[in-house]
Amino acid sequence: MTQIINGKILRDKILAELKAEASLLEVKPSLSVIIVGNDPASKIYVNTKKKKALEIGFKSEIIEFDEDVQERTLLGKIDELNNDKNVNAILVQLPLPAHINTKKIIESINPLKDVDCFHPYNAGKIFTNSDAVVYPCTPKGIIRLLREYNVEIAGKNVVIIGRSNIVGRPLAAMLTNLDATVTLCHSKSQNISYYTQNADIVISAAGIAGLVKADMLKDGVIVVDVGMNRIETPDGKKLVGDADFESVKEKAALITPVPGGVGPMTICSLMENTFELYKLQQ
Ligand code: GUN
Repeated sequence: MTQIINGKILRDKILAELKAEASLLEVKPSLSVIIVGNDPASKIYVNTKKKKALEIGFKSEIIEFDEDVQERTLLGKIDELNNDKNVNAILVQLPLPAHINTKKIIESINPLKDVDCFHPYNAGKIFTNSDAVVYPCTPKGIIRLLREYNVEIAGKNVVIIGRSNIVGRPLAAMLTNLDATVTLCHSKSQNISYYTQNADIVISAAGIAGLVKADMLKDGVIVVDVGMNRIETPDGKKLVGDADFESVKEKAALITPVPGGVGPMTICSLMENTFELYKLQQ
């Protein structure tokens, strides 16, 4: 029997706990979100982040810049936020326009306010299995979901598809730290099926609808779908993951749906990280 993982229930449970904790605080945790340009998906993501933060009693602001903003303007704003005692957590929504040096922007964030855990100082902590200040939101949410559903990680064969700095790369390090045997596939990998067929857990973060098909998987596999693909259907636009859900769910023991699986957990991790950084700054 396939079990469909429900990220929303776990998110709501964790957010309720954070809200109760935050209600006892005189000074509230505070998250500042920077967005550049008008990408509709990015706008939805940052609005959701702010809305959730406010719902649980945190403070949050969205700082918007035009698509053609100069890099030094962004660096100036980040410097201001780094030095603002009322701001505990800074998030720069990615991707940034091509004329902006993303690495430079990320490296300008004070590592103690780096809520995404993208700064090389924080990423390095994960890659060296040292005590990290916070963990990247989506990987942290995925591991929390797997724990909730009592999925054993140590000794398991895990295949991750996608090597982004946001998901695949840090997730590979975090699962390695938890004693999984990790294979990290990406756009240049040949015959991904060769790897997935032997996997106990397949995590797809490639952003390609229909990439993961039932014939690539073994029976009883656990499938975590990080894909957020907007596709056209006869009934209009639809949000789907990387897995061909209907066929894959027949083979999987556990599977995350899109929407309602990993997505809610990313927001939840963001709130947890904001709280962690707040505590460190008191
Ligand atoms: N763009 C897509 N996912 C993320 C994320 O988790 N953090 C940031 N900053 N940008 C993103």
